[in-house]
Amino acid sequence: MSAAVHGEPADPAALVQAWDDQQSAYIAGRESRFRAITDIVGLACGAEPVIVDLACGPGSLSARILDALPGARVVALDFDPLLLDLATGTLGSDDRFSVVEADLAGDTWPDAVAAATAGAPISAFVSTTALHWLAPQTLLSVYTAAAEMLSDNGILLNGDHFRFDGRQPTLRRLAEAHDAHTQARAHAAGSATWDQWWATATARDGVADLAALRDERFAHRNPPPTTAVDFHLAALAQAGFAEVGTVWQLLDDYVVMGVK
Ligand SMILES: C[S@@+](CC[C@H](N)C(=O)[O-])C[C@H]1O[C@@H](n2cnc3c(N)ncnc32)[C@H](O)[C@@H]1O
Repeated sequence: MSAAVHGEPADPAALVQAWDDQQSAYIAGRESRFRAITDIVGLACGAEPVIVDLACGPGSLSARILDALPGARVVALDFDPLLLDLATGTLGSDDRFSVVEADLAGDTWPDAVAAATAGAPISAFVSTTALHWLAPQTLLSVYTAAAEMLSDNGILLNGDHFRFDGRQPTLRRLAEAHDAHTQARAHAAGSATWDQWWATATARDGVADLAALRDERFAHRNPPPTTAVDFHLAALAQAGFAEVGTVWQLLDDYVVMGVK
């Protein structure tokens, strides 16, 4: 078990490693999904892509992109000040990386991203395990704004659980059993749970203000009802992407892609 989950003083790198461990307990193919996204960005976006990581958390996907693509620049957006602080603490010394603190459910985030990219054409919007926090109509707005901001032939890649619904009861049962099995195995091996990770992350000296601001912003938000993959493909098409499809899948965990 990571030292970070015992409530001991933990530096940002240890906390982000513990974040990756706890997230992997909920997302069996997390690293494979990251790899699919970085490979596709590398193939589709040229040698010096400008990439926006939507709802980046502590920067797990951004870090993998920067590792895999030396010419990339990443602008990482989130509304959680504590997670952004960890992203800055681990990636902030890389001059290819910058953060934007903004709410995807509001209407000012596109301007904040445009300011951060300083007018450079955006090659890709990417996101993992995050946009399920947005209500369907908000998600459509985010997809639409992203399509408008992308350069010609730019891409969007969104990796997340898109749950099977009543149309696929067998697949839903298998996906739920697989999730339960993945969690049981990871937690037995010592990964922190979501709640344990947050208890450690917020108990550190000097983060009380960030934790309070986080609570103020998120305490009253609950995830909306789940959506299935066909909703996302239709929403991407509606948002203006000329070509849409699924580029990676493990049961109900997908990466969907839109090409402008
Ligand atoms: C489970 S975390 C995933 C973080 C990261 N993408 C990863 O894969 O590890 C979900 C993220 O969505 C962010 N988020 C949720 N609602 C948001 C909103 N309205 N605007 C910006 N970020 C949001 C949270 O702050 C959190 O960082």
